[in-house]
Amino acid sequence: MAATTAGAPCLLLLHGTGGDENDLLPLGRALAPGAALLSPLGKVREQGMARFFRRLAEGVFDQKDLEARTTDLAGFVERARALYGIQEKLVAVGFSNGANIASSLLLRFPETLAGAVLMRGMVPFVPPQPVELKRKPVLLLNGLEDPIVGTDEVGELANILRAANAEVTLHWEQAGHTLSQGDVLMATDWMRKFY
Ligand code: MLT
Repeated sequence: MAATTAGAPCLLLLHGTGGDENDLLPLGRALAPGAALLSPLGKVREQGMARFFRRLAEGVFDQKDLEARTTDLAGFVERARALYGIQEKLVAVGFSNGANIASSLLLRFPETLAGAVLMRGMVPFVPPQPVELKRKPVLLLNGLEDPIVGTDEVGELANILRAANAEVTLHWEQAGHTLSQGDVLMATDWMRKFY
């Protein structure tokens, strides 16, 4: 965990498939200079690539594993908070597979996060019961040419979050699954506005 500046939120950085705990550190520093950064490595391996939960195929999730790994992640956050004395609000910043476990965390353990930046995220699951997110800010960053995450899926994710009373900001870039400079600028503005 990196050192913190008073008043800044703590960011929970969650990398994409095949990434690692270092990938999002520069982005975290750009989004919230001085913020404490909590950046775990996904524990699942898919042909050697690190992930946060198992999938059966691209975009088809092993729901049992997702549920168990989300509970694990909530436990990790709680232990890290105690270990490092983190009092700040926690904002998840997840990319792709990391965005998917971030939204699962938000929907299953709403009290864990103060908000989230979900980059190229999908619907992790449809909540079986109403969820209350109490106007927590959530930024969805998506690519109009993303071959993995379709526009309908993003719309469904936004609807699930809005139905849970999240304050959703939906932003589209002329981009694919890879992040662009516009995503970073948008996320930086959003962070300044809400935290
Ligand atoms: C997932 O498995 O979470 C999504 O397919 C995104 C990915 O990691 O490729």
